[in-house]
Amino acid sequence: MSTPHQVNVALGERSYPIHIGAGLLAQAGALIAPLIKGSRALVIADATVAKHHGTTLTASLNSAGIAHALVTFPAGEPSKSLSTADLLWQACAANHIDRSGAIIAFGGGVSGDLAGFVAAAWMRGINFIQIPTTLLAMVDSSVGGKTGVNSAAGKNLIGAFKQPRCVVIDPRLVSTMDGREYRAGLAEVLKYGVIKDPNFFAWQEAHAEALATGDPTAVAYAVAESCRIKAWYVGEDETEQGVRAHLNYGHTFGHALERETKYTRYLHGEAVGIGMRMAANLAQRLGLLKDATLVARQHALLQRYQLPLAHTTDHKSALAETLTKHCLLDKKVAAGRMRFVLPTAMGMVETHEIIDGAAVASAFASAFE
Ligand code: GLY
Repeated sequence: MSTPHQVNVALGERSYPIHIGAGLLAQAGALIAPLIKGSRALVIADATVAKHHGTTLTASLNSAGIAHALVTFPAGEPSKSLSTADLLWQACAANHIDRSGAIIAFGGGVSGDLAGFVAAAWMRGINFIQIPTTLLAMVDSSVGGKTGVNSAAGKNLIGAFKQPRCVVIDPRLVSTMDGREYRAGLAEVLKYGVIKDPNFFAWQEAHAEALATGDPTAVAYAVAESCRIKAWYVGEDETEQGVRAHLNYGHTFGHALERETKYTRYLHGEAVGIGMRMAANLAQRLGLLKDATLVARQHALLQRYQLPLAHTTDHKSALAETLTKHCLLDKKVAAGRMRFVLPTAMGMVETHEIIDGAAVASAFASAFE
């Protein structure tokens, strides 16, 4: 079966398709059935997604003859925990999901990360399918196999690489998303243009209002292009030994802001948007950015996507220093060197280890107001 947009993630025997098309949720069963060959499936969905779209998915699985059960968990980041995973493993047992069974993640990033982790560990790994329902999950977290839960040790420190057998994306589902959450997903779409594809960035400039208002044709194209770029990185560097880290553009600064504001002030994409401004500023400050227009073009597109552009604080320099110190103490930092993904031109980024704390602090302060 061919779908309006199809992208392949090339991983040898573990390669998989990403099917993208308006209304595709109703065909999910037919797309999945050949992959799971008559085995039982457990659909793991957050309660809100199940309420909005559960009936369509269930009808589609039934008409394709897929025996399944649907389990829900409360929507929201706190559910991305070992205790929820444990409840889901119990649901696997209660629903007789054996080694030939499958888990279907249905929802946003939390559902995908949690259900993927459950699938990776249950009976040492069973089939896994992603059906993302938020823009962020469609363009990022459902593709590439990063799964996991949060713990007292930190966010996303416990997890596994678990590639899905396929990803089924119905871009129409974003129409039921909260507007702010939808726009936060656009920050990741913008990111793909800056890190890899000047034409995609220019296309976004030409269609920014259509995207910001969720025009279905524009959304479908943006999702397909984002998946194409993400698939390339995953195919090149599945376990992030090198180039996949480019997908973290804006994330080091963004994570620092999210942590500082205790994950309550910004949605992830919003913090990444501000973080991309900081990263471009750092690149400029270090003389790495050759394209003088990038900073203004990135800023203008973030603005047209109605994303926050700056972090408001009364203590600019003190906060910049604190956040720089936090970056240095980050568990992922090696030997006092902070790693940042920095743009050198539109569509090109490089990873740099920075030891100049003052430059990093100034980059933080550049997006404070
Ligand atoms: N979200 C970045 C990655 O999947 O590598």
